[in-house]
Amino acid sequence: MAIHPFKEEITMQDKLVALVTGANQGIGLQIAKDMAAHGFTVLVASRNLARGEAAAGEVGPDALALQLDVTDQASIAAAAERIRTKLGRLDVLINNAAISNTSKRPDQSIEEYSKSVRASNVSLDEVRAVWETNVFGVLAVTQAMLPLLREAPAARIVNVSSGVGSLTLNADPAFPWRSIFGPVYAASKTALNAMTLAMAVELGPEGIKVNAVSPGFTRTNLNNYAGTETVEEGAREAVRVALLGPDGPTGTFSNTAGIIPW
Ligand SMILES: NC(=O)c1ccc[n+]([C@@H]2O[C@H](COP(=O)([O-])OP(=O)(O)OC[C@H]3O[C@@H](n4cnc5c(N)ncnc54)[C@H](OP(=O)(O)O)[C@@H]3O)[C@@H](O)[C@H]2O)c1
Repeated sequence: MAIHPFKEEITMQDKLVALVTGANQGIGLQIAKDMAAHGFTVLVASRNLARGEAAAGEVGPDALALQLDVTDQASIAAAAERIRTKLGRLDVLINNAAISNTSKRPDQSIEEYSKSVRASNVSLDEVRAVWETNVFGVLAVTQAMLPLLREAPAARIVNVSSGVGSLTLNADPAFPWRSIFGPVYAASKTALNAMTLAMAVELGPEGIKVNAVSPGFTRTNLNNYAGTETVEEGAREAVRVALLGPDGPTGTFSNTAGIIPW
């Protein structure tokens, strides 16, 4: 049998390892705290390493900061390599990092912003920038982490999506969020749901479960703290799905109340 070059470190890493992207604040930070509480070594990924280190300090001794910008292929590749050399394993990937827009205007309400990014008037640069993080970033990170995940005995991938991306719900004129359905954030989550299903279809036979979750309208930087749920509530479904046992489902979209239609 070939001797692995990092054998010493690997044998030291008996605990399960979870990677959470965008874990330096908001729901991602809470997911990292909850996964550590469930006994995982948690990689607190952040595009800004100093902020990741501060967050990892908050999570506790079982957390390690990891520089990871999901839009930067070199950063993604370096992160995957670092996980292999430092820990030698990855059991759970939680694709949480996302942006809602690029405008960074705290004075603008969700409704005002939505009017400026309708299908008729949105800048394609805005669509591309948000999809780059929320859709292509997830695909790129997942591809880079798959070799490690495939070596894990029961890998799980959780994509943090949003109910506002559900085509079925938005097709119903009575859906309360329908008026803000548009090509930028909401449709990026629709596309993320499609990626989730594509991954689940491919990876299901290998025993890797891939599910999408919706945290609910949570008070975070993403919505200028206009959300109504706490980060503890927002993190709950992602953590539940990350911990699914062998009989758990794959290829689902859910929140704490149950299944959400695609
Ligand atoms: N809050 C809600 O009401 C709500 C509802 C439904 C779904 N969600 C989803 O929940 C997830 C977490 O959002 P949140 O509400 O916790 O928002 P948040 O507080 O703004 O956190 C988003 C995280 O993503 C990171 N991020 C953004 N672009 C990145 C990139 N290119 N590379 C790496 N990290 C990047 C941010 O890093 P920086 O700190 O460097 O910006 C931050 O850590 C997202 O997928 C979001 O779409 C949220």
